[in-house]
Amino acid sequence: MKATAKAHTNIALIKYWGKRNEAIILPTNNSLSLTLDGYYTTTTVEFDESLSQDQFILDEQIASGEQYNRVTAFLDIIRQMAGKQLFANVTSVNEVPTAAGFASSASGFAALAAAGSKAIGLHLSEKELSRLTRRGSGSACRSIYGGFAEWEMGMREDGEDSYAIPIAPANYWDIRVAAVVLSATKKSVSSRAGMRRTVETSPFFQGWLDSISYDLAEIKQGIKARDFQQVGEIAEANCMKMHATTLGAKPPFTYWHDTTLVVMQKVWEMRSQGIPVYFTIDAGPNVKVLYLPEHEAYIEQTLGELQGVTDIRLSKPGQGITYI
Ligand code: PMV
Repeated sequence: MKATAKAHTNIALIKYWGKRNEAIILPTNNSLSLTLDGYYTTTTVEFDESLSQDQFILDEQIASGEQYNRVTAFLDIIRQMAGKQLFANVTSVNEVPTAAGFASSASGFAALAAAGSKAIGLHLSEKELSRLTRRGSGSACRSIYGGFAEWEMGMREDGEDSYAIPIAPANYWDIRVAAVVLSATKKSVSSRAGMRRTVETSPFFQGWLDSISYDLAEIKQGIKARDFQQVGEIAEANCMKMHATTLGAKPPFTYWHDTTLVVMQKVWEMRSQGIPVYFTIDAGPNVKVLYLPEHEAYIEQTLGELQGVTDIRLSKPGQGITYI
Protein backbone atom coordinates (compact mmCIF):
# COMPACT_ATOMS: atom_id res chain seq x y z
CA MET A 1 0.00 0.00 0.00
CA LYS A 2 2.96 2.25 -0.64
CA ALA A 3 4.16 4.02 -3.80
CA THR A 4 6.52 6.81 -4.81
CA ALA A 5 6.15 8.99 -7.91
CA LYS A 6 8.03 11.88 -9.44
CA ALA A 7 6.38 14.61 -11.55
CA HIS A 8 7.74 17.71 -13.27
CA THR A 9 6.12 21.09 -13.48
CA ASN A 10 4.98 22.57 -16.80
CA ILE A 11 4.77 25.96 -18.45
CA ALA A 12 1.66 26.82 -20.45
CA LEU A 13 2.22 28.13 -23.98
CA ILE A 14 -1.53 28.39 -24.47
CA LYS A 15 -2.89 29.34 -21.06
CA TYR A 16 -5.61 27.80 -18.96
CA TRP A 17 -7.42 30.92 -17.85
CA GLY A 18 -10.99 30.60 -16.63
CA LYS A 19 -13.10 27.88 -15.01
CA ARG A 20 -16.61 26.85 -15.97
CA ASN A 21 -16.90 24.68 -12.86
CA GLU A 22 -14.82 25.54 -9.81
CA ALA A 23 -15.80 22.51 -7.70
CA ILE A 24 -14.43 19.84 -10.04
CA ILE A 25 -12.10 22.20 -11.97
CA LEU A 26 -13.43 22.35 -15.50
CA PRO A 27 -11.80 25.00 -17.70
CA THR A 28 -13.35 27.41 -20.17
CA ASN A 29 -10.71 26.60 -22.81
CA ASN A 30 -8.12 24.05 -23.94
CA SER A 31 -4.53 24.77 -22.95
CA LEU A 32 -1.13 23.49 -24.10
CA SER A 33 2.11 23.22 -22.18
CA LEU A 34 5.72 22.12 -22.13
CA THR A 35 6.84 19.97 -19.19
CA LEU A 36 10.20 21.13 -17.77
CA ASP A 37 13.04 18.98 -16.46
CA GLY A 38 14.43 21.42 -13.90
CA TYR A 39 11.50 21.47 -11.49
CA TYR A 40 9.85 18.45 -9.91
CA THR A 41 8.18 16.94 -6.89
CA THR A 42 8.77 13.47 -5.47
CA THR A 43 5.95 12.10 -3.35
CA THR A 44 5.50 8.91 -1.35
CA VAL A 45 2.04 7.80 -0.25
CA GLU A 46 1.49 4.95 2.19
CA PHE A 47 -2.02 3.91 3.21
CA ASP A 48 -2.03 2.41 6.67
CA GLU A 49 -4.88 0.75 8.59
CA SER A 50 -3.49 1.95 11.90
CA LEU A 51 -3.82 5.66 11.04
CA SER A 52 -6.82 7.67 12.27
CA GLN A 53 -6.13 10.64 9.97
CA ASP A 54 -3.91 11.64 7.05
CA GLN A 55 -0.48 13.07 7.64
CA PHE A 56 1.29 15.31 5.13
CA ILE A 57 4.98 16.14 5.37
CA LEU A 58 6.19 18.73 2.87
CA ASP A 59 9.91 19.41 2.61
CA GLU A 60 10.48 17.80 6.02
CA GLN A 61 7.83 19.92 7.76
CA ILE A 62 4.42 18.76 8.98
CA ALA A 63 1.88 20.60 6.84
CA SER A 64 -1.33 22.08 8.24
CA GLY A 65 -4.06 24.53 7.24
CA GLU A 66 -4.88 25.10 3.59
CA GLN A 67 -1.96 22.94 2.34
CA TYR A 68 -3.07 19.97 4.46
CA ASN A 69 -6.73 20.45 3.57
CA ARG A 70 -6.07 20.38 -0.18
CA VAL A 71 -4.14 17.12 0.18
CA THR A 72 -6.75 15.35 2.33
CA ALA A 73 -9.57 16.54 0.05
CA PHE A 74 -7.66 15.05 -2.86
CA LEU A 75 -7.02 11.78 -0.98
CA ASP A 76 -10.79 11.64 -0.36
CA ILE A 77 -11.31 11.47 -4.12
CA ILE A 78 -8.79 8.63 -4.39
CA ARG A 79 -10.40 6.78 -1.45
CA GLN A 80 -13.82 7.13 -3.03
CA MET A 81 -12.56 5.83 -6.38
CA ALA A 82 -11.01 2.80 -4.67
CA GLY A 83 -13.91 2.26 -2.27
CA LYS A 84 -11.49 2.13 0.66
CA GLN A 85 -11.57 4.08 3.91
CA LEU A 86 -7.86 4.19 4.72
CA PHE A 87 -5.76 7.12 5.83
CA ALA A 88 -2.30 7.83 4.48
CA ASN A 89 1.14 9.13 5.27
CA VAL A 90 2.17 11.51 2.48
CA THR A 91 5.74 12.73 2.16
CA SER A 92 6.64 15.26 -0.54
CA VAL A 93 9.89 16.87 -1.54
CA ASN A 94 9.66 19.85 -3.86
CA GLU A 95 12.46 20.70 -6.24
CA VAL A 96 10.52 23.72 -7.42
CA PRO A 97 12.04 26.91 -6.13
CA THR A 98 9.02 29.06 -5.29
CA ALA A 99 11.15 32.07 -6.16
CA ALA A 100 11.27 30.93 -9.79
CA GLY A 101 7.55 31.61 -10.01
CA PHE A 102 6.51 28.12 -11.00
CA ALA A 103 3.46 26.74 -9.32
CA SER A 104 4.62 23.73 -7.31
CA SER A 105 0.95 22.69 -7.37
CA ALA A 106 1.40 21.31 -10.91
CA SER A 107 4.19 18.86 -10.07
CA GLY A 108 2.80 18.40 -6.55
CA PHE A 109 -0.67 17.20 -7.51
CA ALA A 110 0.61 15.13 -10.44
CA ALA A 111 3.01 13.26 -8.12
CA LEU A 112 0.35 12.90 -5.40
CA ALA A 113 -2.22 11.53 -7.85
CA ALA A 114 0.25 9.02 -9.30
CA ALA A 115 1.65 7.79 -5.97
CA GLY A 116 -1.74 7.84 -4.20
CA SER A 117 -3.67 5.97 -6.87
CA LYS A 118 -0.93 3.35 -7.18
CA ALA A 119 -0.58 2.89 -3.42
CA ILE A 120 -4.30 2.26 -2.95
CA GLY A 121 -4.31 -0.31 -5.75
CA LEU A 122 -6.04 1.60 -8.56
CA HIS A 123 -4.52 0.79 -11.91
CA LEU A 124 -5.16 3.99 -13.83
CA SER A 125 -4.32 4.66 -17.45
CA GLU A 126 -2.51 7.96 -18.16
CA LYS A 127 -5.81 9.43 -19.27
CA GLU A 128 -7.53 8.41 -16.04
CA LEU A 129 -4.59 9.68 -14.03
CA SER A 130 -4.68 13.05 -15.80
CA ARG A 131 -8.43 13.34 -15.16
CA LEU A 132 -7.89 12.58 -11.47
CA THR A 133 -4.96 15.02 -11.21
CA ARG A 134 -7.12 17.81 -12.65
CA ARG A 135 -9.23 17.70 -9.48
CA GLY A 136 -6.21 18.78 -7.40
CA SER A 137 -4.99 21.61 -9.62
CA GLY A 138 -6.05 22.22 -13.21
CA SER A 139 -2.65 22.89 -14.74
CA ALA A 140 -1.29 19.75 -13.01
CA CYS A 141 -3.24 17.44 -15.33
CA ARG A 142 -0.78 18.34 -18.13
CA SER A 143 2.23 17.20 -16.04
CA ILE A 144 1.31 13.52 -16.45
CA TYR A 145 3.05 13.72 -19.83
CA GLY A 146 6.56 14.77 -20.77
CA GLY A 147 7.23 17.30 -23.53
CA PHE A 148 4.18 18.99 -25.04
CA ALA A 149 0.71 18.19 -23.71
CA GLU A 150 -2.76 19.56 -24.35
CA TRP A 151 -5.53 19.72 -21.77
CA GLU A 152 -8.80 19.10 -23.55
CA MET A 153 -11.49 21.06 -21.74
CA GLY A 154 -14.18 18.52 -22.64
CA MET A 155 -17.88 19.13 -23.12
CA ARG A 156 -19.42 17.16 -20.26
CA GLU A 157 -20.40 18.68 -16.96
CA ASP A 158 -19.23 15.63 -14.98
CA GLY A 159 -15.66 16.20 -16.21
CA GLU A 160 -15.25 12.70 -17.68
CA ASP A 161 -13.85 14.10 -20.92
CA SER A 162 -11.62 16.79 -19.37
CA TYR A 163 -7.99 15.57 -19.25
CA ALA A 164 -4.63 16.08 -20.95
CA ILE A 165 -3.32 14.20 -23.95
CA PRO A 166 0.30 13.95 -25.17
CA ILE A 167 1.30 16.07 -28.18
CA ALA A 168 5.05 15.34 -28.48
CA PRO A 169 7.50 13.73 -26.02
CA ALA A 170 10.40 15.44 -24.24
CA ASN A 171 13.03 14.24 -26.72
CA TYR A 172 11.04 15.49 -29.72
CA TRP A 173 12.51 18.99 -29.74
CA ASP A 174 15.14 20.64 -27.59
CA ILE A 175 13.70 24.05 -26.90
CA ARG A 176 14.70 25.81 -23.71
CA VAL A 177 13.03 27.92 -21.05
CA ALA A 178 14.79 30.45 -18.84
CA ALA A 179 12.87 31.38 -15.71
CA VAL A 180 13.80 34.99 -15.01
CA VAL A 181 13.46 35.51 -11.28
CA LEU A 182 12.64 39.03 -10.14
CA SER A 183 13.24 40.58 -6.78
CA ALA A 184 9.50 41.26 -6.55
CA THR A 185 7.64 39.75 -3.63
CA LYS A 186 4.57 37.52 -3.34
CA LYS A 187 1.72 37.95 -5.78
CA SER A 188 -1.40 39.62 -4.43
CA VAL A 189 -4.07 37.83 -6.50
CA SER A 190 -4.02 34.00 -6.63
CA SER A 191 -4.61 32.31 -9.98
CA ARG A 192 -7.93 31.03 -8.66
CA ALA A 193 -9.15 34.50 -7.62
CA GLY A 194 -7.73 36.10 -10.77
CA MET A 195 -9.53 33.64 -13.02
CA ARG A 196 -12.80 34.11 -11.20
CA ARG A 197 -12.63 37.88 -11.36
CA THR A 198 -11.85 37.99 -15.08
CA VAL A 199 -14.51 35.41 -15.96
CA GLU A 200 -17.13 37.31 -13.99
CA THR A 201 -16.24 40.91 -14.83
CA SER A 202 -13.83 41.39 -17.73
CA PRO A 203 -15.40 42.42 -21.05
CA PHE A 204 -12.17 41.15 -22.67
CA PHE A 205 -12.78 37.58 -21.47
CA GLN A 206 -14.98 36.69 -24.44
CA GLY A 207 -12.27 37.96 -26.81
CA TRP A 208 -9.80 35.71 -25.02
CA LEU A 209 -12.03 32.69 -25.51
CA ASP A 210 -12.72 33.52 -29.14
CA SER A 211 -9.00 33.55 -29.94
CA ILE A 212 -8.12 30.16 -28.43
CA SER A 213 -8.95 27.81 -31.28
CA TYR A 214 -6.80 29.81 -33.71
CA ASP A 215 -3.87 29.92 -31.28
CA LEU A 216 -4.12 26.19 -30.59
CA ALA A 217 -4.24 25.22 -34.25
CA GLU A 218 -1.29 27.49 -35.08
CA ILE A 219 0.91 26.36 -32.21
CA LYS A 220 0.26 22.69 -32.91
CA GLN A 221 1.21 23.25 -36.53
CA GLY A 222 4.37 25.03 -35.31
CA ILE A 223 5.27 22.15 -32.98
CA LYS A 224 4.69 19.65 -35.78
CA ALA A 225 7.01 21.58 -38.11
CA ARG A 226 9.48 22.36 -35.30
CA ASP A 227 9.03 25.99 -36.33
CA PHE A 228 10.36 27.93 -33.35
CA GLN A 229 9.25 31.32 -34.63
CA GLN A 230 5.68 30.17 -35.06
CA VAL A 231 5.54 28.54 -31.63
CA GLY A 232 7.17 31.54 -29.95
CA GLU A 233 4.98 34.14 -31.64
CA ILE A 234 1.77 32.33 -30.74
CA ALA A 235 2.86 31.62 -27.15
CA GLU A 236 3.83 35.24 -26.54
CA ALA A 237 0.64 36.61 -28.12
CA ASN A 238 -1.49 34.18 -26.11
CA CYS A 239 0.21 35.30 -22.89
CA MET A 240 -0.45 38.95 -23.74
CA LYS A 241 -4.13 38.23 -24.31
CA MET A 242 -4.47 36.39 -21.01
CA HIS A 243 -2.91 39.30 -19.14
CA ALA A 244 -5.07 41.77 -21.07
CA THR A 245 -8.19 40.18 -19.57
CA THR A 246 -6.99 41.20 -16.10
CA LEU A 247 -6.77 44.86 -17.15
CA GLY A 248 -10.43 44.76 -18.12
CA ALA A 249 -11.57 43.17 -14.86
CA LYS A 250 -13.49 45.01 -12.17
CA PRO A 251 -11.54 46.04 -10.20
CA PRO A 252 -8.66 45.88 -12.69
CA PHE A 253 -5.41 44.20 -11.73
CA THR A 254 -2.15 43.01 -13.24
CA TYR A 255 0.45 40.40 -12.28
CA TRP A 256 3.21 42.49 -13.86
CA HIS A 257 5.80 44.46 -11.94
CA ASP A 258 8.09 47.14 -13.32
CA THR A 259 10.87 44.60 -13.91
CA THR A 260 8.44 42.29 -15.72
CA LEU A 261 8.13 44.96 -18.40
CA VAL A 262 11.89 45.53 -18.44
CA VAL A 263 12.44 41.84 -19.25
CA MET A 264 9.69 41.85 -21.90
CA GLN A 265 11.27 44.87 -23.59
CA LYS A 266 14.70 43.23 -23.54
CA VAL A 267 13.22 40.16 -25.24
CA TRP A 268 11.72 42.40 -27.95
CA GLU A 269 15.06 44.18 -28.33
CA MET A 270 16.97 40.92 -28.76
CA ARG A 271 14.40 39.82 -31.33
CA SER A 272 14.82 43.05 -33.28
CA GLN A 273 18.52 42.15 -33.43
CA GLY A 274 17.66 38.84 -35.07
CA ILE A 275 17.72 36.46 -32.09
CA PRO A 276 14.66 34.19 -31.96
CA VAL A 277 13.52 34.62 -28.37
CA TYR A 278 10.00 34.92 -26.89
CA PHE A 279 8.41 35.20 -23.47
CA THR A 280 5.44 33.92 -21.55
CA ILE A 281 4.17 34.90 -18.10
CA ASP A 282 1.86 33.03 -15.71
CA ALA A 283 -0.19 34.44 -12.85
CA GLY A 284 2.79 36.23 -11.30
CA PRO A 285 5.49 38.78 -12.12
CA ASN A 286 8.28 36.43 -13.28
CA VAL A 287 8.98 35.99 -16.98
CA LYS A 288 9.72 32.67 -18.72
CA VAL A 289 11.85 33.13 -21.81
CA LEU A 290 11.76 30.62 -24.69
CA TYR A 291 14.89 30.16 -26.80
CA LEU A 292 16.95 27.63 -28.73
CA PRO A 293 20.07 25.93 -27.23
CA GLU A 294 22.53 27.82 -29.45
CA HIS A 295 21.50 31.15 -27.89
CA GLU A 296 21.61 30.01 -24.28
CA ALA A 297 24.83 31.70 -23.19
CA TYR A 298 23.91 35.05 -24.74
CA ILE A 299 20.39 35.07 -23.33
CA GLU A 300 21.47 34.06 -19.86
CA GLN A 301 24.06 36.82 -19.79
CA THR A 302 21.85 39.53 -21.31
CA LEU A 303 18.90 38.88 -18.99
CA GLY A 304 21.16 38.46 -15.98
CA GLU A 305 22.52 41.98 -16.44
CA LEU A 306 19.09 43.61 -16.06
CA GLN A 307 18.46 45.56 -12.90
CA GLY A 308 15.88 43.86 -10.67
CA VAL A 309 16.67 40.36 -12.00
CA THR A 310 17.96 38.20 -9.15
CA ASP A 311 18.37 34.83 -10.82
CA ILE A 312 18.03 32.97 -14.11
CA ARG A 313 17.11 29.27 -14.04
CA LEU A 314 17.45 27.28 -17.23
CA SER A 315 15.39 24.26 -18.15
CA LYS A 316 14.99 21.70 -20.94
CA PRO A 317 11.88 19.71 -21.83
CA GLY A 318 11.11 17.25 -19.05
CA GLN A 319 9.66 13.75 -18.64
CA GLY A 320 6.19 12.75 -17.57
CA ILE A 321 5.29 10.77 -14.44
CA THR A 322 7.81 8.20 -13.28
CA TYR A 323 7.43 5.69 -10.45
CA ILE A 324 10.36 5.09 -8.18
O1 PMV B 1 -3.76 25.31 -12.13
P1 PMV B 1 -3.62 26.64 -11.46
O2 PMV B 1 -4.75 26.97 -10.55
O3 PMV B 1 -2.26 26.79 -10.81
O4 PMV B 1 -3.71 27.78 -12.60
C1 PMV B 1 -2.69 27.99 -13.56
C2 PMV B 1 -2.96 29.15 -14.42
C3 PMV B 1 -1.80 29.64 -15.28
O5 PMV B 1 -0.57 29.24 -14.75
C4 PMV B 1 -1.82 31.15 -15.31
C5 PMV B 1 -1.92 29.14 -16.72
C6 PMV B 1 -1.62 27.69 -16.97
O6 PMV B 1 -2.21 27.17 -17.91
O7 PMV B 1 -0.79 27.09 -16.28
